[in-house]
Amino acid sequence: MLYGVFSDVHGNLEALTEVLSFFEKTRVDAYIFCGDLVGYGPDPDACVALVRGLRKSLIPVCGNHDQAALGIIDPNWFNPYARCAVMWSRKMLSEESRTFLSRLHPRLDAKLFTVAHGTPRRPAEEYMLTVVQFKENLSKVGVWPLFVGHSHMPLYFRVRAEHDPKVPDVEVDTIEEAREVAAERKPYGVVPIVFNPGSVGQPRDQDWRASCALYDSDLMTFRVVRLEYDIQVVQQKIRDAGLPEFLALRLAFGQ
Ligand SMILES: [Fe+2]
Repeated sequence: MLYGVFSDVHGNLEALTEVLSFFEKTRVDAYIFCGDLVGYGPDPDACVALVRGLRKSLIPVCGNHDQAALGIIDPNWFNPYARCAVMWSRKMLSEESRTFLSRLHPRLDAKLFTVAHGTPRRPAEEYMLTVVQFKENLSKVGVWPLFVGHSHMPLYFRVRAEHDPKVPDVEVDTIEEAREVAAERKPYGVVPIVFNPGSVGQPRDQDWRASCALYDSDLMTFRVVRLEYDIQVVQQKIRDAGLPEFLALRLAFGQ
């Protein structure tokens, strides 16, 4: 099966539209969404509505911004820009969007993989960024691979299947566009591996283009795709909504 994997949309409708139309053209069979539909961007409700429309084949989790917009977590933990945007997003959400988001959990254990917004042990808070965090979370996952978002960086962590004392036992790297990373199946199960598709609506790897990925569950390969969208339209919408100028500027820098 071919999955379209995406995360951290953050109310960026123009980027989301590009990603979903790419997935449609590629004829994905289903979607894995790693959380954060709202926050930062100017179209939270329209983004939730688009993703709600994928319902039949969608395997979604919610993110910390989604939870803050619902009032489940306290936005006072956020930086001032994020807090301002999430409080604004809260007012923009329709009843249908609130209902959809409130049914999601920040972690989901599927039959063939696991999805968590941040990490399996603290799915709404922790960022999976270091080898230490990866190792500490190993025992918290029943089925590999694990798909995460939250850091807005396309990257992977993988335990090396063959032990070699000369090299580290965990491989970690960012995933550049078009690079394919594969999970490995052993007699005892899938070798632990984490895939992060990067962010649709606010990438933070110095590349402004929307990031998403394709996961082939038969071959167990994961490939990152970057897509251009009309960033100026989104920046203008941010300004028109009265959201902080910084949120418009950072999009152009992929920060
Ligand atoms: Fe996020």
